[in-house]
Amino acid sequence: QNNVPDTFTDAETGIVFNSWGLSPEDPRTQGGFRFGVALPEDALTNDATEFIGYLECSSKDSQGWCGVSLGGPMPNSLLVTAWPHEDNVYTSLRFATGYAMPDVYTGDAEITQISSTVNSTHFSLIFRCKNCLRWEQNGVPGGGSTSSGFLLFGWVQAFPSPGNPTCPDEITLDQHNNGMGIWGAVLDENAANPSYSEWAALATHNPE
Ligand code: HEM
Repeated sequence: QNNVPDTFTDAETGIVFNSWGLSPEDPRTQGGFRFGVALPEDALTNDATEFIGYLECSSKDSQGWCGVSLGGPMPNSLLVTAWPHEDNVYTSLRFATGYAMPDVYTGDAEITQISSTVNSTHFSLIFRCKNCLRWEQNGVPGGGSTSSGFLLFGWVQAFPSPGNPTCPDEITLDQHNNGMGIWGAVLDENAANPSYSEWAALATHNPE
């Protein structure tokens, strides 16, 4: 995973992301993986509590799921889990105290979608993640500091689809089987943007 970000602009929305990824040729995962963030205008001086995320994950015959740990390790971090089902990408915010099926996150974080794509080999999602950079579950607090210019993230990918795919609180998962890792994500001046609120307002829906 790169640490210094690749910056790109989503063609449809104009959202500018700092991003980190693994190419389709990378031996650590089949199909490649990419995660990006766009942050509120003052996020590099005041810690942001939310971000707009970009996920591009691989699948096999449209089956699979991927996840990002917003703290790096799997345990005690807010976990974003995403998977394709028919034409939609579903998400679930989770929290794990160990290396076992994560629980539903009970804090006030919330994902709302801006756009998504699904094909047989990949799925992508642009989403607003409100209250996602400061978390607490059963008295265990944590978070990332955007003003430090550096966030620690973790990634995982898997090929079997979740069970109960249209009920995010009820999904069942097998342990991820298409790679995992932790990386240090350096933020540069493109990560924070004066258009953030306009972009965040595009987050209007979740799949039924
Ligand atoms: C690592 C199990 C779901 C994120 C690990 C490891 C195990 C594990 C055993 C360590 C493997 C090693 O070091 O060789 C499981 C099981 C799951 C599950 C049994 C569900 C049934 C998830 C989910 C996410 C996630 C839903 C995120 C959305 C991670 C990350 C790592 C990891 C980022 C690498 C960082 C670390 O070692 O802490 N998982 N996991 N896992 N898992 Fe999971």
